[in-house]
Amino acid sequence: MTIPGIVPIPATLNIHGGSLPIPRGFEIRADGAFSNETAVFKTQVPFAIAKELNGAVPIVCEKTTAKSDATGREGECYEISISPEGIQCRASGNRGMYHALQTLRQLILAGRADGGEIELPLANIVDTPRFPWRGFMLDTSRHFYSVAFIKKMIDAASMHHLNVFHWHLTDDQGWRLPVKAYPKLTEVGAWRHDSKTTWQDLVVGGFYSEQDIREVVDWAAARHVDVVPEVDLPGHASAILAAYPELGCTGGPYKVEDRYGIFQEVLCAGNDGIFPLFEAIFDDLVRLFPSKYVHIGGDEVKFNRWEECPKCKARLESLGLEKIPQLQSWITVRLANMLEARGKTPIGWDEVLEGTEVLGLPKDMIVMSWRGREGGIEASSKGHPVIMTALTDGCYVNFKHLDSPEEPGHLEVATIEKSYSMDPVVPGMNEAQEALVLGGQCNLWSEVIYASRIAEYMYFPRMGAIAEALWSPKERRSLESFEARLPSYGKTLDALDMTRYKGPVR
Ligand code: ACM
Ligand code: ZN
Repeated sequence: MTIPGIVPIPATLNIHGGSLPIPRGFEIRADGAFSNETAVFKTQVPFAIAKELNGAVPIVCEKTTAKSDATGREGECYEISISPEGIQCRASGNRGMYHALQTLRQLILAGRADGGEIELPLANIVDTPRFPWRGFMLDTSRHFYSVAFIKKMIDAASMHHLNVFHWHLTDDQGWRLPVKAYPKLTEVGAWRHDSKTTWQDLVVGGFYSEQDIREVVDWAAARHVDVVPEVDLPGHASAILAAYPELGCTGGPYKVEDRYGIFQEVLCAGNDGIFPLFEAIFDDLVRLFPSKYVHIGGDEVKFNRWEECPKCKARLESLGLEKIPQLQSWITVRLANMLEARGKTPIGWDEVLEGTEVLGLPKDMIVMSWRGREGGIEASSKGHPVIMTALTDGCYVNFKHLDSPEEPGHLEVATIEKSYSMDPVVPGMNEAQEALVLGGQCNLWSEVIYASRIAEYMYFPRMGAIAEALWSPKERRSLESFEARLPSYGKTLDALDMTRYKGPVR
């Protein structure tokens, strides 16, 4: 039997030789504590579930009494043994059992012959994650994606033991989050004229209803994926300003942007009206998203407007601050306080470290290091938890797979090799800093990702490469091993109806 294409590679995987044929499907015998996990699993491999018990191979899902994982990852560890008698999955927690079933799902999908017959390798697996934060981000502002696609992606990500969906909900090109007290955010801010098809003067966009969001959150929860919403403040604000022009420094006119880039229209730091807006956004976010985290953005705030605005200058003076960038720090502190009052932990892009000379970074702030590794190194040196997702380390999967005009994507190139090489712990971190590394994620910015099929192509197989960096023990990782698993892993992705890149790895 060829090596099974499990991605990420388990901490321990012993293949014994020999195989277990499954001619009539599986019978699941599970501890009642795992009824949710087995119910989801049945929907993921419906063809593999026995129609009748005669001749079915048992999958026994048992609760173990192990108190904690070796790595202390809140019940995420699991064991699988595949013997001639059947399959045993063991875990102390529901997350661990879900992971067990996802690894088994991969073995089933990769071990299914074209005629449908399933054959599994006899094997023992003992597995546990390296990092607690294993994420993927989707930008649903630059292009709007359906709930069906988001659910498909969450399901596929969870197959790779990823456990965070970072949902980028707002940006210059569209606001996708309903906020009851500010209805124009979606009535106006969710729609833009599409400059690519001006011959039709098409209006494009959309937003997620509360019902849509609940559906995504519930779907993710059943797969042990945390949905972390991002509202990008106080920059990337064209859509907000198109809806509420009085919140900008100049008063407008503004529009929901139909071009891409970084725009100088940001929320006016001198306008007290921005704070009731933030409160209203967070009131609704907290109601809709059970996650303990809220991402407040904070990236790429241009200061030109603030430098010219009498209200912003007056604010600076009244606060006793000296430099305009310190106004962003002041806003960050206000946002963090609002979230703390709601029991949430704020996350910001690494620019939140700037302009903090006077006010400092809010004490529980988590920093997401994206421009490079430096933000993660600096934040962790100051005692802040960090999430590593550097564009210089292959984590931006909107970059092309190869330097070719035939390839979709933009800006730069991130080969599979590059994405595979990412490691959340980077040189220059000491032990105390290393302990603050929560993990990492891949990001898909969607400026040129016009359709979900292209999004899939950009994610895969790089999402698998990054999942391995986030889950597998460092000493278990090798590009050669990943490459050897790619054909089998590709078959698994095909079974998910996932469009994927099939070209060179390096
Ligand atoms: C970012 O890529 N602007 C976080
Ligand atoms: Zn202003």
